[in-house]
Amino acid sequence: MTYARITGIGSYLPEKVLTNKDLEKMMDTSDEWIRERTGIKRRHIAADDETTSSLGLIAARHAMEMADVTAGDLDMIIVATCTPDKVIPGTACIIQRHLGAKRCPAIDINAACSGFIYGLDQANRYLVTGGGRRALVIGAETLSRITDWHDRTTAVLFGDGAGAAVLEVSDEPGILSTHIHANGEFEDLLQTRNGVSLGFDASAGLGAFIEMNGNAVFKRAVATFDSMARETVADLDGHLEDIDWFIPHQANMRIILAAAKKLGMSMDRVIATVDEHANTSAASIPLAMDLAVRDGRIKRGDTLLIGAFGAGFTWGSAMLEF
Ligand code: UT7
Repeated sequence: MTYARITGIGSYLPEKVLTNKDLEKMMDTSDEWIRERTGIKRRHIAADDETTSSLGLIAARHAMEMADVTAGDLDMIIVATCTPDKVIPGTACIIQRHLGAKRCPAIDINAACSGFIYGLDQANRYLVTGGGRRALVIGAETLSRITDWHDRTTAVLFGDGAGAAVLEVSDEPGILSTHIHANGEFEDLLQTRNGVSLGFDASAGLGAFIEMNGNAVFKRAVATFDSMARETVADLDGHLEDIDWFIPHQANMRIILAAAKKLGMSMDRVIATVDEHANTSAASIPLAMDLAVRDGRIKRGDTLLIGAFGAGFTWGSAMLEF
């Protein structure tokens, strides 16, 4: 049987760190409130000269180094992001140029926080059906650029970063299953009110900033992780003990705890980075995966379950043997 297997993983976080204490000086919030309600302690913020493509490029290079592949080996580049450098060209094309991956197809996917899983799903289908032998899937975000720093209900939640994975066609097990979903009915609960086609209204202080009904999104996220758990249980014929590691999207520690409980997984088998990275949307899962691979927790042959939920709403999960 032919699989698409992750042969390299990499990540990058901007140098600048913004702690909860720093935020206390910027708005009416407290370290205590942020930690208790979200589990977040700090987040990384892109420097003025950094962009989503520059973050993604560094993560991609780390992943390619681990996989021992060169730019010329790549048959597809997918960048999952909701904060592209520009409207056109796509961020994937900008990264393709910097890598020197000449003529390799390159596309962006915007599925918000579920983007990396959507990207894995697409790359997996592309590779196992003979579209090519190697794909690069990047999740990269500069959410700080669409954060309203005057809105304490959202500003404390987000961070910047990038993660990337190289997938290669293999006879050895790799991606075992993917499930992706969307429901556009809840657009108003998590959105940027303005945008490209709708236009920007910067004069009224309404740029394309993230607006969220946090409480409603929270409830929906927890309920969705429940249905995700049931899909996974069905894939595994009930053998949840076969999963070595659960890597959820990193939005809120309370959501992660609830998701782990639904899956019946103890927290020592869950990779959580939300305390250090905050919510980096499409970058959060590959960032967490890279950290746990490089610190030795995740080993070759381990079975991983990844799951995400975000604006759209979009959600998805993937099970894979690393
Ligand atoms: O990645 C996409 C998915 N996103 C998510 O999954 C995020 C989901 N939502 C959440 O994580 C949580 O809903 C939040 C962390 C955003 C908020 O936590 P909450 O427990 O739902 O709090 P809340 O929105 O019900 O607000 C409780 C109180 C309010 O004050 P009152 O009305 O009770 O007086 C808020 O005004 O906390 C207040 N508040 C704050 N206080 C200090 C809201 N933000 C802050 C803040 N600092 N930063």
